[in-house]
Amino acid sequence: MNNKSIYILGIESSCDETSAAITCGDKILTNIIAGQAIHERYGGVVPELASRAHQQQIIPVVVAALDEAKVPKSALSAIAFTRGPGLIGSLLVGTSFAKAMALSLDIPLIEVNHMQAHVIGNFAAREGEQFTPPSFPLLCLTVSGGHTQIVRVENFMKMEIIGQTLDDAAGEAFDKAAKMLGLPYPGGPVVDKMAQIGNPNAYKFPHPIIADLNFSFSGFKTAILYFLQKEKKADPDFVDKHLADICASVQQAIIEILLDKLTKAVNQTGIKTVALAGGVSANKSLRMALLDKQKKNGWKVHIPSFEYCTDNAGMIALYGYYKYLAGEFSDLDITPIARYPF
Ligand code: KG4
Ligand code: ZN
Repeated sequence: MNNKSIYILGIESSCDETSAAITCGDKILTNIIAGQAIHERYGGVVPELASRAHQQQIIPVVVAALDEAKVPKSALSAIAFTRGPGLIGSLLVGTSFAKAMALSLDIPLIEVNHMQAHVIGNFAAREGEQFTPPSFPLLCLTVSGGHTQIVRVENFMKMEIIGQTLDDAAGEAFDKAAKMLGLPYPGGPVVDKMAQIGNPNAYKFPHPIIADLNFSFSGFKTAILYFLQKEKKADPDFVDKHLADICASVQQAIIEILLDKLTKAVNQTGIKTVALAGGVSANKSLRMALLDKQKKNGWKVHIPSFEYCTDNAGMIALYGYYKYLAGEFSDLDITPIARYPF
């Protein structure tokens, strides 16, 4: 079969982004992402509100993805959807929609693991776009608000986690530090911005000592809390006066913790091709630190465009395409799994 005749609709609804995408062969045609501003005022994602927003947004988002791609529903080869991990109420919306649409069109349904799809995001590109995909085998550092993983990837269908966080995720560390500093949610982008005018060596925060390739950020978070309590006791305006330096120092510590383990993983596996995924990969200093590794240590670093780093259905549809080629389909009685194993 000519791969250019394979059209996949991807559906993503695991957290607070409602997204639909269309692929043609291994190329992205459209990738529509609708965010949910409602959570900002609560300082974090409210699961109940997320489900309701998905319910509202799912049809317009799918219609927009099809319309912009100029692909009629009747041309779709299969529907891929995020089965988990994620918020169960949110996952139920995307799963139910995908099942109903696959049933009505009488086409296959393909379940996708959201964390594996993040890795596949590194291979996402539009037709005609200048793009060199990373080569296999590769290591992918997936850093988001809910996950921190080092994934060893042999090929599209074979990947394993070789290191992960034992508690908080890297994005959570950014967000919680930002909250302690009185910054709005999500804090990562704000810390990133402030850090650019601060001194990353102004304050030192401890690096956790964790075995193997695993991470921990909970002690780090407590260290920031104690540090701020102590400094604010001496000077109540400490945060206001030194905000940029604190942000730069916190960010530097998180990046060092991530890169220490990634370097260990590269040395242990001998794999020097390194890819990046998840919302934290938007961080400018993290990107620069990785490119520095490319220059100094001979790594081959692949950083996908931001559109495919954060939650998006493009990565779901593309992974769906590879599963379609492998003949991996799901039954219509499938249910979502909040803690879907890798
Ligand atoms: O992948 P993502 O959009 O959603 C999931 O968590 O699944 O990641 C969101 C996380 C948040 O914690 C946010 O603060 C963080 O990514 N983030 C950043 C930056 N942009 C987003 N962290 C640091 N620097 C950034 N520029
Ligand atoms: Zn995600």
